Amino acid sequence: MKPKIVVYKALPADVADYLREHAELIDVDAGQPGALAAALRGADGAIGASVKITPAMLDGSRVKALSTISVGYDQFDVPDLTKRGIVLAHTPDVLTESTADTVFSLILASARRVVELADWVKAGHWKGSIGPAQFGVDVQGKTLGIVGLGRIGGAVARRAALGFKMKVLYTNRTPNEAAERHYGARRVELDELLASSDFVCLQVPLTDATRHLIGARQLQKMKRSAILINASRGATVDEQALIAALEAGTIHGAGLDVFEREPIDPASPLLRMPNVVALPHIGSATHETRHAMARCAAENLVAALAGTLDVNVVNRDVLAR
Ligand code: DGY
Repeated sequence: MKPKIVVYKALPADVADYLREHAELIDVDAGQPGALAAALRGADGAIGASVKITPAMLDGSRVKALSTISVGYDQFDVPDLTKRGIVLAHTPDVLTESTADTVFSLILASARRVVELADWVKAGHWKGSIGPAQFGVDVQGKTLGIVGLGRIGGAVARRAALGFKMKVLYTNRTPNEAAERHYGARRVELDELLASSDFVCLQVPLTDATRHLIGARQLQKMKRSAILINASRGATVDEQALIAALEAGTIHGAGLDVFEREPIDPASPLLRMPNVVALPHIGSATHETRHAMARCAAENLVAALAGTLDVNVVNRDVLAR
């Protein structure tokens, strides 16, 4: 008998067809309260994204594998899944380059005021030659501080060092020797990174250790001319502290793809600040990359249910059992 898989995010047709060759699919509207938990009770696995899967939702289920269509896995209680013997798979690598492009577009847009000035033109304010009131700041040759130099951080460092001749500083639990060799990246303490960088870019996953990693004290350490870039997870930054720092001129601006609450409250002061570029969590959102992520997640799930998955596993401890 084919295993039953809950699908809680729309999949490209060819990916759904591939899954159907291996499993019976149960489509669920994750927006319906209780629907996902109810479906999980009769399933062997699930695939989807952007929805919290709590331990309670798995009680009484026989689920063996969960596959998230994302690299981030902060929607799951990983130790609990491991205790239950449930494999959790994710989609690193396939989204690295498009997510690094988003980070770099935030750097460029914030520095050169692209969104603000495009709106200014559309509003009919361009009546003569522009002057210092419309000038931005250079990106090339500046210092980029990357907090967390993993796969995506490494792709950002490559763009910065090789494309824009930037100096790259970074923090990471372990040295990233490839980035040091190829991009001249220098590993420093967070305080030094904050004090020396023109752009501070967060590339850490959201964990208990990184929640509000950047708060009032850290923002205070940054240069007044610095720009904070966040395309990781909103809660790595204390958003209230960021709003206060931007209002007080403690830092110059911010480029944000992620927020503590998504979608962001339309009344958020961040949305009224011309020096803030705000995007709707588009990190990996290109047609090509989202398709590759869905395919990768589907293959992960099929292999996990067959007991053959040995890549892209978040909780490898489960495989050792
Ligand atoms: C990820 O893959 O984690 C991106 O943030 C998209 O959700």
